[in-house]
Amino acid sequence: MIRAPFTLAAALAIAAPALAEIPPEHTVAVGTAETVTAGEHMVVAAHPLAAEAGEVILEAGGSAADAAVAVQLVLGLVEPQSSGLGGGGFLLYWDAAGAELTAHDARETAPMAAAPDYWLEDGEPLGFWEAVIGGRSVGVPGTPKLLEHIHARHGRLPWAVLFEDAVTLAEDGFEVTERMAESVADARELDRQDAARDYFLPDGDPLAEGARLANPAYADTLRLMREQGAAPFYSGAIARDIVATVRADDRRGLLTMADFAAYEVIERAPVCIGYRGDEVCGMGPPSSGGLTVGQMLGILERFDLPAIGQGMLAEHLFAEAGALAFADRDLYMADSDFVSMPEGLLDDDYLRARARLIDAEAAMGGAEPGTPPWREAAARHADDPRPRAGTTHFVIRDGRGDIVSATTTIEMGFGSRLMTNGFLLNNELTDFAFAPAGADGLVANRVEPGKRPRSSMAPTIVLRDGAPNLAIGSPGGANIIPYVARALIGILDWDMPLHEAVARPHLLNRNGPSFVEEGPGAAQMAAELESMGHAVEVSDLNSGLHAIRITPDGLEGAADPRREGVALGR
Ligand code: DON
Repeated sequence: MIRAPFTLAAALAIAAPALAEIPPEHTVAVGTAETVTAGEHMVVAAHPLAAEAGEVILEAGGSAADAAVAVQLVLGLVEPQSSGLGGGGFLLYWDAAGAELTAHDARETAPMAAAPDYWLEDGEPLGFWEAVIGGRSVGVPGTPKLLEHIHARHGRLPWAVLFEDAVTLAEDGFEVTERMAESVADARELDRQDAARDYFLPDGDPLAEGARLANPAYADTLRLMREQGAAPFYSGAIARDIVATVRADDRRGLLTMADFAAYEVIERAPVCIGYRGDEVCGMGPPSSGGLTVGQMLGILERFDLPAIGQGMLAEHLFAEAGALAFADRDLYMADSDFVSMPEGLLDDDYLRARARLIDAEAAMGGAEPGTPPWREAAARHADDPRPRAGTTHFVIRDGRGDIVSATTTIEMGFGSRLMTNGFLLNNELTDFAFAPAGADGLVANRVEPGKRPRSSMAPTIVLRDGAPNLAIGSPGGANIIPYVARALIGILDWDMPLHEAVARPHLLNRNGPSFVEEGPGAAQMAAELESMGHAVEVSDLNSGLHAIRITPDGLEGAADPRREGVALGR
């Protein structure tokens, strides 16, 4: 891929759009949280059929990479609103034999024909939904190449074996779950294009819970991929279909076959920060996940949370750490192949100074970004974070100790609403800033040709004494960052049982109001935060935290009761 150097062009003085909060997917059927134990291997994924497909591979002696392929192929069928072959993601891999952690960037990519004014119409940022729906929001998908890449790097079983469950389910059908049925019923404009309408709204009605649903087009796609790998998606028939689909749409996309041919999965160094003796590792740019989770932890390490314990002081500190970290995220973080970013975002002294800005008794009421150590400082204008509904996280640990922690997505639930070859196309290009510049300069996360939009996805692996003891992550758009940071604190600082850490009611702050999760304790928590000066909004915070903990006694797994996932192992 050709990477254009970052140039500080003259800033256009375009005000950032006033964006309303986009509600995350609402929680369906809160399940019972439980910690599942196993001795050998484990999978935690957002749908029982996907977890089963992974377990079958692990039972057959497959690696975590093999199981990840099987899990993702089934997720694309049974949880199509959240991830699939038309999307992208980030995957952390722990290779036990080499004692090595690698990070794999399969983020969708902007067309080479895209310019910073991509999301402007008559000089004004387009409305969010207008941008989401249709061909213009689609970036080059990364997931097909990610699966091929991770299998080539770490696979043990033959590629074709990994397709068995997904092909059978796509041919024979599977039962539509309550969550999928509700997602279909709630989705806007699923009737925009014939292929998506015929699949999700057969006879004009949304798919019903319990209906049996086969996807013959997806079965054909899987058979092609089983025989030819990812090539058809980047230089063959499927790439041609995607290009034709986005170009035929009224909101015409600019993708070309050359964009597909240039696509690469990029292996990057994981971003790690020491936290009370552990090393918490995540995904660096173009995701803001690892750095922002890292900043929150680096700030919170200055407070003795294990001694402070759970309670309002800890909640207040957590919210303030979120505000400080998001102030930096929104100003500095983007695809670092295109924009220079401060090297010192996780600098110890810097985060200590940031922590000193917190008053233990009163909310700061909005954090300013800091000035971390930075060799090539450039004027910047901040971007707006927005929560989203889509995306999935799975964690896998195989019998030899390899681990996958992967977050994959098509962005909003049902992505761009465009479907081809049995899968939905992403709307990931709406993760770019809509306004490329503001009064203070260029926005780091503006659109540029061949650039990857900033993500919040935060697949995480925690190392203790050089070996993993936890793998975790979640969907939830920008809320992913505090969801993951909060669960980490519960597990690492308070040794909470895994299921309690993932089920614990959410509180988060993205440098705006403090959001408190709806539920029995919400009113009291809101009142107490308000008495400390927080502006509070109570809302449905739909995480999908999936985690595996590795203990001296074996494996523990837990799936977020807010979704339909399960932990399976032996
Ligand atoms: O990359 C990102 O941060 C978003 N596109 C992820 C979207 C998401 O998590 C939706 N979740 N429910």
